[in-house]
Amino acid sequence: MNAHDKIPHLIELREQARLGGGEKRIAAQHSKGKYTARERVEKLLDEGSFEEYDMFVTHRCTDFGLENERYLGDGVVTGRGTIDGRVVYIFSQDFTVFGGSLSETFAMKVCKIMDQAMKVGAPIIGINDSGGARIQEGVNSLAGYAEIFYRNIMASGVVPQISAVFGPCAGGAVYSPALTDIIVMTDKTSHMFVTGPKVTKTVTGEDITTEDLGGASIHTGKSGVAHFKADSEDEGLLLIRKLLEYLPQNNLEDPIATECSDPSDRMDDELNEVIPDDPNKPYDVKDVIHRIVDFGEFLEIQRHWAKNIVTGFAKFGGMPCGIVANQPNFLAGVLDIDSARKAGRFVRFCDAFNVPVITLVDVPGFLPGSFQEYGGIISHGAKLLFAYGEATVPKITVTLRKSYGGAHDVMGSKQLRADINYAWPGAEIAVMGAHGAIEVLESKAIAELKDAEARNEFFRQKEEEYREKFANPYVAARFGYLDDVIEPRSTRPRIIRALRALATKKDVLPPKKHGNMPL
Ligand code: HXC
Repeated sequence: MNAHDKIPHLIELREQARLGGGEKRIAAQHSKGKYTARERVEKLLDEGSFEEYDMFVTHRCTDFGLENERYLGDGVVTGRGTIDGRVVYIFSQDFTVFGGSLSETFAMKVCKIMDQAMKVGAPIIGINDSGGARIQEGVNSLAGYAEIFYRNIMASGVVPQISAVFGPCAGGAVYSPALTDIIVMTDKTSHMFVTGPKVTKTVTGEDITTEDLGGASIHTGKSGVAHFKADSEDEGLLLIRKLLEYLPQNNLEDPIATECSDPSDRMDDELNEVIPDDPNKPYDVKDVIHRIVDFGEFLEIQRHWAKNIVTGFAKFGGMPCGIVANQPNFLAGVLDIDSARKAGRFVRFCDAFNVPVITLVDVPGFLPGSFQEYGGIISHGAKLLFAYGEATVPKITVTLRKSYGGAHDVMGSKQLRADINYAWPGAEIAVMGAHGAIEVLESKAIAELKDAEARNEFFRQKEEEYREKFANPYVAARFGYLDDVIEPRSTRPRIIRALRALATKKDVLPPKKHGNMPL
């Protein structure tokens, strides 16, 4: 090749690499309503920011005739780019090349960008669309997966890791996304399962479709494995961009505070009326959240799963925060296995990346019953307790209404190192609700009351006495367990002022290898 031909040759090779598995397969990908691996990268990153690595890598396999079938890039597009001007590292599996299946060299490409992301302290984004281990490569492919898993584990809590699942993701391959912080799935075009429908049928006899076994609705609504269900890939990619607004580049940095034109001293009179008079009447805690955060913008995480607790990101006076809130509108906001798992993981995610945690409490207690006990509510509830107690980020708790029993301790109580604890004047903080307490304390007197009306009157009187004495915020305030009882309308300014004061907070854990949280 003479000197004149070298540059056209390079351009031709690049063109070839960009075509992945070829035009026919690209058309097939589009016909399924899916973008190609490269299109996804281009759409996610700031325009023109993508720098591709290892475009000319090919596999080394010589079995099953693969020596005659090679594609530049070998089924994964890797590199770095920027999102809102900040560097991210990315890999995007290319289904048009051997179904996006993972070979030894494919894994090396992914590991290369993961290693560099760790060195520079930048988030890692993985877009999954793959048939799993490349069957022709056998154990080399399995080893490649393990190399990636290991890096996922090392990167956990060091740089944010976000997974998009935009196609198949099956077998052991699911464990790479599972080890990351956030999973976004597209509705109807993605699935995740350890064992697919065919093997499931053979082993257990269960007849189930791909969608019902591991579609986006299942993982965002039933299993809690995924965090977002997007209606389209465009929506999924936008969600990832949005999510990164609330996160720092790595665990040594703070999330970036932005200018905010929503006044930090904004009061909201409606908040004084938001809690119904009847303590057993539900309301939507998201109404409270929307009223107190900047511009009412709240990025809810795991919206469809464990709806009795609400988790997500928002900003207060431009400062990114995580919010955990009991939801009286669903199961009365009770804590159960799923809600404890959901909130526990979220608190740890915030703590790992220096995102302050704001907790809004309205919790009647833990859900009773054999189903919960047999399912291990003791261990799962302890996860949330552990997460709060361990978190060293600024923690602000506002008790809106009920805060009973063990659930009171769990939900960001003072003794679990919350920095600032406020309560609204109607808050009820006690060992248990008035009715239950009277049943226990007055069981003998109640047994003697045969007349229903007399019983009701007895309960009414005793409950009122109990509420006056115990089920109010002032007992806790007297002991200093609350720092102040605040007017609901002033919640936003009080939180913002607290966050500003806590911005320089330093807190440490005792030296240890790691705790032994009840996983
Ligand atoms: C090599 C593969 C492949 C694989 C798909 N292809 N999966 N090549 N290894 N694992 C190839 C196909 O041969 C085909 O090549 C192209 O990719 C597209 O596949 P299709 O089957 O035509 O596509 P589709 O009908 O959309 O079905 C997609 C699919 C299916 C559901 C992913 O291909 C499938 O079930 N693949 C096998 C999945 C699997 O069992 N993988 C191993 C899982 S175990 P051509 O040349 O025709 O385009 C695993 C272990 C990981 O991954 C362990 C980690 C610890």
